[in-house]
Amino acid sequence: MPTLDTMPPALSDAQRAALDMLMSRHSPWPLTEPAPSAPELDLVFQAALRAPDHGQLRPWRFIVIRGDARHALAKVFARAARARDPDGNAERFASKALSAPVLIALGVRIVHGHKVPASEQVLAVGAGVMNMLNALHVLGYGGFWASGLNSRDPLVRRELGLDAGDELIGFLYVGTPKDRSDRGAARPDPDACVSEWTGPAAP
Ligand SMILES: Cc1cc2nc3c(=O)[nH]c(=O)nc-3n(C[C@H](O)[C@H](O)[C@H](O)COP(=O)(O)O)c2cc1C
Repeated sequence: MPTLDTMPPALSDAQRAALDMLMSRHSPWPLTEPAPSAPELDLVFQAALRAPDHGQLRPWRFIVIRGDARHALAKVFARAARARDPDGNAERFASKALSAPVLIALGVRIVHGHKVPASEQVLAVGAGVMNMLNALHVLGYGGFWASGLNSRDPLVRRELGLDAGDELIGFLYVGTPKDRSDRGAARPDPDACVSEWTGPAAP
């Protein structure tokens, strides 16, 4: 497989910079201040809304939680955790709300019974989230997408203002990476995930 350095013919500087951005994105943790400014977050959302959207259903419901609202969300997380398990460690779930300067709840407004399956509506939001991760990276910030029990809890969904039939596909934790080195998962060899189909196998 060619790399950015071996790719023939030579890439333009703009092509190289864009591909380098895509290929250097990772999920940094921990994330600290400063958070993206409001105009920067607007750009991130504009990038999200370039995602493909079957049927133009516009399923994206991004909910920004920052500042003191994170403390209110921590209480919601704790209440939901206690309702799930009165003997569990509710503080562990609550603390997640305070673990980055900005959280973005990733809601999907599902149109049930539509010819576009619900799974495709979820994928449109997922594609938007990927654009957000890339836009944050381009702007010098980091994003970490996490789901977990908080995002699967109906009480949390309701308190965030989502409808009972909506999905919450996680939270995007946003801030400035404390450490910019990529210490995440090893990238797979493309050969393990990519093949070329040239027709049905002979019977
Ligand atoms: C839908 C979705 C949910 C995820 N939920 C979690 C999670 O709850 N906890 C976690 O540690 N990583 C979760 N991840 C994985 C991280 O976002 C991240 O991709 C992973 O840590 C690998 O880092 P990388 O993006 O640098 O490869 C989730 C990813 C996706 C796409």
